[in-house]
Amino acid sequence: QRKELPIELQIFEEYHKKYKEILLNLPQSHPAWKYLINRGINKNYAERFGLGFSNGSLKSSILDDFDLPITLGNKLGIVREDGKEIFQNRIIIPINDDFGRVIAFAGRTIKNETPKYLNSPENKFFQKSKILFLFDKSKNIIKREKYSILVEGYFDAISMHINGFENTVAILGSAFTQYHAKKLIKLSDKIITMFDMDEAGQNATLKSLDYLLSFGFQVAIAQYTTKDPDELIKKEGQNGILRTLENSKKFHEFIPEYFKDKYNLDDEFGIEQYLEKMAEWYLKFQRSKHAAILDTFIKRISLIILKPENNIKKAIDNILK
Ligand code: CTP
Ligand code: MN
Ligand code: MN
Ligand code: MN
Ligand code: MN
Repeated sequence: QRKELPIELQIFEEYHKKYKEILLNLPQSHPAWKYLINRGINKNYAERFGLGFSNGSLKSSILDDFDLPITLGNKLGIVREDGKEIFQNRIIIPINDDFGRVIAFAGRTIKNETPKYLNSPENKFFQKSKILFLFDKSKNIIKREKYSILVEGYFDAISMHINGFENTVAILGSAFTQYHAKKLIKLSDKIITMFDMDEAGQNATLKSLDYLLSFGFQVAIAQYTTKDPDELIKKEGQNGILRTLENSKKFHEFIPEYFKDKYNLDDEFGIEQYLEKMAEWYLKFQRSKHAAILDTFIKRISLIILKPENNIKKAIDNILK
């Protein structure tokens, strides 16, 4: 079996093994452990998610053992041209393929260096558009729970898993793609998105909603009071997440609510613009498998702008004519 593993993945595996060893052998007083403990990650959890630490001691040693050139390690984003480690002084987060093989690393600074995260460049096995973080650990749970939860960040996903929401996966900082959708819908067509509550996160919510609907997902959107799920857990624990998931809104209830604050609904012109936005989504819903919800969608809008459903339907028809 060992021989069948491509050389690139053998290198990732060996560096990963060492990074884990380094972390486990550091005293609890070391900044790496202080950082992790502060984020709620003890030794057990670090082992569960295969976390490691790069202290710069490995350099190109593993490449040397394999008799491989530094240029290969450089291509994989592990060592620089001078043989020094790229992730130095960072927590190592392994990124796995769907079968649990390490195909890339993310390195998080423990002392506010920029960038906050360093990620391996894409390789034959690692394409951000196709990989979901923790998918290998979640896939069976998603099947069992019959829905998935989609978050933005590495630590969001890790915290969710630690707190019992093991049907959570994260995008890798980039956009949600059709490949991600295809992967998830094989397991379940129900999904709750829980992106960050800042502008970037909300934009990502709308974009992914678009994709998810076109793939036929039943989407609910979770909204909460902290910046991201990890911080929600720190503040309100498992119950905060439970409440948030319970209060998540179905997409056709979310859209009228979300946009009502973006327009001045005390004003006829504002209402017109709001309805134009709603018409845009009406069309998307109509084109999805969810045309049956259109009546409820109109009803929601009616409750928000306090006009009869008939008028709203007519206004939207007019806009779409
Ligand atoms: N990201 C990245 N590189 C960065 C910043 C972000 O790759 N310089 C990706 C990471 O996958 C990160 C995700 O985008 O997890 C979300 O970014 P952000 O919300 O800024 O970070 P958090 O995950 O909240 O990071 P942390 O909690 O560690 O501060
Ligand atoms: Mn974010
Ligand atoms: Mn975040
Ligand atoms: Mn965060
Ligand atoms: Mn409001």
